[in-house]
Amino acid sequence: MDLTERLQVYQSCIETALDYWLPKSTVHPQSLHEAMRYSVLGNGKRIRPVLVYATGEAFGVSLDELNAPACAVEIIHAYSLIHDDLPSMDNDDLRRGRPTCHKAYNEATAILAGDALQALAFYVLTHDTKLRVDAIQRLRMLETLASASGSRGMAGGQAIDLNSVGKQLNIAELENMHIHKTGALIRASCELGALSLQDVDPARFERISHFAKCIGLAFQIKDDILDIECDTETLGKPQGSDIARNKPTYPNLLGLDGAKQAARELYDEALASLVEFDSRADILRDIAGYIVQRNK
Ligand code: IPE
Ligand code: IPE
Ligand code: MG
Ligand code: MG
Ligand code: MG
Repeated sequence: MDLTERLQVYQSCIETALDYWLPKSTVHPQSLHEAMRYSVLGNGKRIRPVLVYATGEAFGVSLDELNAPACAVEIIHAYSLIHDDLPSMDNDDLRRGRPTCHKAYNEATAILAGDALQALAFYVLTHDTKLRVDAIQRLRMLETLASASGSRGMAGGQAIDLNSVGKQLNIAELENMHIHKTGALIRASCELGALSLQDVDPARFERISHFAKCIGLAFQIKDDILDIECDTETLGKPQGSDIARNKPTYPNLLGLDGAKQAARELYDEALASLVEFDSRADILRDIAGYIVQRNK
């Protein structure tokens, strides 16, 4: 099966699972549940769940065991996007080709939808019955997601991002910001896929974790490049937002060619981490390629 077919399988699994775990919009308080569903369902690339599934499969785990960790990372991601778009953060009006949550509802609802989604992600990972791991391993998974989301992960990276507006960061500072705000959750996605296997080999786990660190950073570098090179309609979010907000980015520091070169080097490093993996990791190799070549 090629990458496109496999992605369709993963995407169909994640859409069904997300719909299952999100409270219906008929459930009280309706407007909050509606805003949560509005922001999670529809149109995302689902790269983080795809990484959970692809990594899990590389470790021999079945797709139905992977639905809960896949949902958990996507739900955290959706919450991070709602808050990222708020007027107090990036102040963007368009997300996934539609008005952002605070535009479609209101700011208070958007804040609460993000809060509730964050809690829901941990609920899903705690309550799912399909994972075939013991309670200790499940705690390790919860800890992985918590660290990747909190002040030492995504939220910390967002704080660095906001504090860096209008500043010239050096390459180490920029890398640190990207590794936290975007890399942490992408790394956790692969780690959760691997941890869905009860007796995961520690050396293989470390290699996958390093692979994910590289593609996580490459993903945000490519996001910075697309902010310049892509158009609003294809992106589904406002093109030029980084320049408009005076954000430090890879193209801003290294130039477009330098940023592309940095992404390519990370791709090579990511693939090198997978040398000892067999053909079951081919989808992961293809996804790494997609991350640096994607056009949206
Ligand atoms: C956008 O993430 C925010 C970043 C961390 C760069 P995605 O590019 O994965 O957005 P969706 O989920 O496809 O909308
Ligand atoms: C967002 O980075 C990172 C998180 C949401 C954690 P950006 O601000 O670059 O993402 P986009 O470009 O708005 O999707
Ligand atoms: Mg941002
Ligand atoms: Mg943004
Ligand atoms: Mg961006």
